[in-house]
Amino acid sequence: MTHYTFPDHFLWGAAASATQTEGTVPGDGKGENIWDYWFKEKPHLFYQQIGPGKASDFYQQYETDITLMKTLNFNSFRTSLSWSRLLPNGKTLNQEAVTFYNNMINEMIKQGIEPIINLFHFDMPMYLQDNGGWENPDIIEAFRYYAQTAFQLFGDRVKRWTTFNEPIVPVEMGYLNTYHYPAVIDMKRAVTVAYHSMLSSAKAIEAFKLEKIGGEIGIILNLTPSYPRSDDKEDQQGAYLADLFYNRSFLDPSVLGYYPGDLLTLLDTYHLLPERITGDTTLLKANTVDFLGVNYYQPRRIKQSEAPIDDKNITPESFFSYYQDPNRRMNPYRGWEIYERGLYDIAMRIKADYQNIPWYVSENGMGVSDEERFMDKDGVIQDDYRIDFYQEHLKWLHLAIEEGANCFGFHAWTFIDNWSWLNAYKNRYGFYRLDLDTQERTVKKSGQWFSQVAQSNGFSH
Ligand code: BG6
Repeated sequence: MTHYTFPDHFLWGAAASATQTEGTVPGDGKGENIWDYWFKEKPHLFYQQIGPGKASDFYQQYETDITLMKTLNFNSFRTSLSWSRLLPNGKTLNQEAVTFYNNMINEMIKQGIEPIINLFHFDMPMYLQDNGGWENPDIIEAFRYYAQTAFQLFGDRVKRWTTFNEPIVPVEMGYLNTYHYPAVIDMKRAVTVAYHSMLSSAKAIEAFKLEKIGGEIGIILNLTPSYPRSDDKEDQQGAYLADLFYNRSFLDPSVLGYYPGDLLTLLDTYHLLPERITGDTTLLKANTVDFLGVNYYQPRRIKQSEAPIDDKNITPESFFSYYQDPNRRMNPYRGWEIYERGLYDIAMRIKADYQNIPWYVSENGMGVSDEERFMDKDGVIQDDYRIDFYQEHLKWLHLAIEEGANCFGFHAWTFIDNWSWLNAYKNRYGFYRLDLDTQERTVKKSGQWFSQVAQSNGFSH
């Protein structure tokens, strides 16, 4: 039996996002975002036709949920603000939203749970999307204004902020395949979206510093280690390029303050460079993040590209292909690979190549479909698979910390089963089970396990 103890003041908690938990209530003044709109237009795209309106009611039940978080011994919790709730039409503040977020933050602090507040988690207000969303350079000023408003309203109490959660996802899912609105496949537009989100992040950091409210600001990235199939030069090159597109396109400008030269050269070769905005280099250089959040679920397994490059239809996958490692272990209930060591590899990479910047695990978790099948006669989900999943990831994280990784916390995805984009409630991730009909919350076995880990700042195994 080994005991794994984590550093003093280690953050233990979970992450969530506004659109996935809050729900909408008539008269709450919230404006429409792309998810509300898309569900209204195309409900059949959503699993069991459940849209963001049917969430876990955090908007009304935040006090209950924060109390339940405390029973799990959370010392921190990350969620996002809903841009379309706070600023339904761009300029006028929704006072209901201000009251709600004030109450939410105050309740967390009262219960000894540090609020970590994220500004953008996939939920573009519809009035901005109608003008091109991240494609339109005007979004940079709109985001800066929203960020500044949030800092002024809540910055006296919130001491850790993040600008974006997984900014590559709207690029990948909305502009390289069709899982997020506007669901188009267009590499040139995708690159523009990525570039404008990166500049928006830097602008928000600049605004944060100007406000002089103290605290720190970071960004949350889903870092996916890219492992080549073999030592062959072509496979190695494929993995290098997958990493360049999916990790370094946000990691380098966020932490180092500039884009990788190879990425710019490659985009230039295929005439994909966006129209540059004056002053972008200086803006990025001057506004790097104080810390990183790392979401880790699974790695990428890469081999050399199989098809010749079609100049007219470039996507990142023109430059590499995925392969199925015959030895990989899969989550049988979600279809994602489980590779715990990936977290260690990320940690070592941040240490070696990214100035050993402070970072924390901002999401890690195991999705399970039809989780009811694991319910015992007392109504408790016996999710030993999830305990095992967390435990094995935490062991690798512990080793990384022993070897000098600058990691200050671990947040699970997530506290309660929540609504997830097109998948709605298909894959359950929570420490608490949510009964969708009654809104009843029941702790799972993994929740009881996590409460002990958080309380003792580690575990024995
Ligand atoms: C993460 C996102 O990458 O994956 C979350 O940040 C999302 O918002 C989670 O809910 C799980 O996704 P899924 O598709 O398994 O429900």
